[in-house]
Amino acid sequence: METQTPILSMPRIGDQAPDFTANTTLGPLTLSDYGKDSWVIMFSHPADFTPVCTTELTGFAKEKDWFEQHNTKLIGLSIDSVHSHLAWVNNVREKTGVYMDFPIIADLDMKVAQLYGMLHPGESETAAVRAVFFIDPQRTIRLIMYYPLNVGRNMQEIKRVLEALQTTDSCNCALPLNWTEGEKVIVPPPKNLQEMEERIADPQLEKVDFYLAMKPLEKAQAV
Ligand code: BEZ
Repeated sequence: METQTPILSMPRIGDQAPDFTANTTLGPLTLSDYGKDSWVIMFSHPADFTPVCTTELTGFAKEKDWFEQHNTKLIGLSIDSVHSHLAWVNNVREKTGVYMDFPIIADLDMKVAQLYGMLHPGESETAAVRAVFFIDPQRTIRLIMYYPLNVGRNMQEIKRVLEALQTTDSCNCALPLNWTEGEKVIVPPPKNLQEMEERIADPQLEKVDFYLAMKPLEKAQAV
């Protein structure tokens, strides 16, 4: 029996990012072909020509170089036509000088929004909520944010968690509350008595107790 795609699917952290081809302000885009070996941050906004969305998408545009330096490509999305996107991009450039030149999906049929669970009917039946998907180079979803229509996202937090995800990929470590680049990282708890004794005896560790110990990142990478 043929299975039907659920109308409201919700990808989760650890899932393979559902692939799609969509029309964007830079032409057709297929996720699996887009920026191979790069991270992708895909974010939805409720509608073009709206105030909060304008602050958010100009914020992404201003940080585009920073994201490129962090091997990350941006994709925007809303349930608007490509003509609306183009008119908004041009209007924002005229009014603010900021050019939103990353691809913005024109998801008029809501295909991508439904695939990624960006439609939350209790919030809006027709507009995508403010979702952010962090997708790694293997196209695994690593972190998801959802914000309601009337609260803008936090660019510092978006950049912080991207650096955090990339850091945890390069070291055998975890990151504590409010961690930012350059701060100490948590070394994984011991898995057996021998590791526990080594941990207790290690003078390099900043220890609260044997199960919570921190190190500068360079030393954690050397572990
Ligand atoms: C805004 O971007 O300002 C907005 C969009 C949809 C609903 C409410 C606010």
